Amino acid sequence: MSETKVRTAPAIVPVGSMPELGVLPERMHGYAIRREREGDPTKSFVSEELPIPEVRPGEVLVQVMAAGVNYNGVWAGRGKPVSVFDMHKDPFHVPGSDASGIVWKVGVGVQNVKVGDEVIIHCNITCGQCVFCNGGEPMACRQQKIWGYETPDGSFAQYTRVQAQQCLPKPTHLTWEEAGSYALTCFTAWRMLVNRAEMKAGDDVLVWGGAGGLGVFALQICKLMGARAIAVVSNEDKIEFAKSLGAVGAIDRRQFPNLPYKPNETEEQKALRLKDTKAFGQKIWEIIGEKKGPDIVFEHVGQSTFPASVFLANRFGRIVICGATTGFELNFDVRHLWMHQKSIIGSHFAHAGECATANKMIQQKRITPVLTNTFSYAEIPEAHEKMARNELHGTVACLVGAPRAGLRNTAETLAVMGAR
Ligand SMILES: NC(=O)c1ccc[n+]([C@@H]2O[C@H](COP(=O)([O-])OP(=O)(O)OC[C@H]3O[C@@H](n4cnc5c(N)ncnc54)[C@H](OP(=O)(O)O)[C@@H]3O)[C@@H](O)[C@H]2O)c1
Repeated sequence: MSETKVRTAPAIVPVGSMPELGVLPERMHGYAIRREREGDPTKSFVSEELPIPEVRPGEVLVQVMAAGVNYNGVWAGRGKPVSVFDMHKDPFHVPGSDASGIVWKVGVGVQNVKVGDEVIIHCNITCGQCVFCNGGEPMACRQQKIWGYETPDGSFAQYTRVQAQQCLPKPTHLTWEEAGSYALTCFTAWRMLVNRAEMKAGDDVLVWGGAGGLGVFALQICKLMGARAIAVVSNEDKIEFAKSLGAVGAIDRRQFPNLPYKPNETEEQKALRLKDTKAFGQKIWEIIGEKKGPDIVFEHVGQSTFPASVFLANRFGRIVICGATTGFELNFDVRHLWMHQKSIIGSHFAHAGECATANKMIQQKRITPVLTNTFSYAEIPEAHEKMARNELHGTVACLVGAPRAGLRNTAETLAVMGAR
């Protein structure tokens, strides 16, 4: 007579361990933001025992092994400029829009993944049924949302619920923390440069924040596509770092202290700003080797740099922008735009096809995640504080289910857990 194995679900398991494949505890550990404690991440991110999200048709539950730190965790914690609780009606919000992990449960109709698959997750949610999702531009889907920011069930928890289409194969050569760190910024940079700005071989591209989360991928994508990236950074170490990722030159922005735009500037401040902007432009000419501006400016800094970006772009240049860390209200001299026929292009994350293409570049080792910091589960709030203070560079991840850094797959992970 064969023995039937009874798999009883534990109430909850400690962070850094997991039950048998597919067995679900009753509750999970995860970081929750609540409206009443919105503020800086060390105040707003609190680890709680939370219910595990129900899996609906077309969705999967993923056991999170590691989760990436992104700026939208900072925005979600602060509740500014928009509260996440004005975007969804749940009483708590689990932040996090990047993860690597193991598929733990699949909903009705899921065909692309199965329990046990090792995956990374991209953060674009769409309806999958409208004309935009089926042959059009999926980012135009009326139900397009960013998982973990506009939805309440992000990655800084033991389990996360995602649409099956969000799962992509985890590159086997990467550790959990490397794999959980890159999707949001890499895929955003891919869409910005390749599809929105239509970058071509030979283009000169100015990359603000060249050593930052988006920047490290912008530099690598430029090199991969035969374009020439000029990185902007804020210290000596980052200059070498940017060059190691393929930048043909790098500019230390501290040498141009008057370049940033500040609201309500005086005429004197404006004159100084234009002087520093022109000097910055000459530095670009030196790197390019001729008196021309960048064909593309890769923007996400916003208010303080945008007037310079519009001024500096070459004739017919494109300023592609996906964010505004320093402020959303942009003030610039529009004459530079029309006289030299420049374009401003908005861009937002990436659709599933773009995500899959960029993920292949990572699988083929043509783009690397550039992980520079790995934090523990307990350090998740502090990791976000460091990001807000601009103390990080490259990509950054936090361990969630992984018992330690350096593990690449389920077998290695179980071996470490079993040895404890
Ligand atoms: N819409 C989307 O889909 C999307 C996706 C990803 C990110 N974003 C947004 O894009 C922004 C950047 O994200 P990230 O992940 O790259 O952040 P990050 O890792 O913090 O990097 C940003 C970089 O910008 C530079 N920077 C910061 N303040 C600056 C200033 N005042 N002037 C010039 N440069 C400055 C810093 O480099 P240096 O100090 O070395 O110059 C920093 O490394 C955030 O606002 C984020 O929300 C949007």
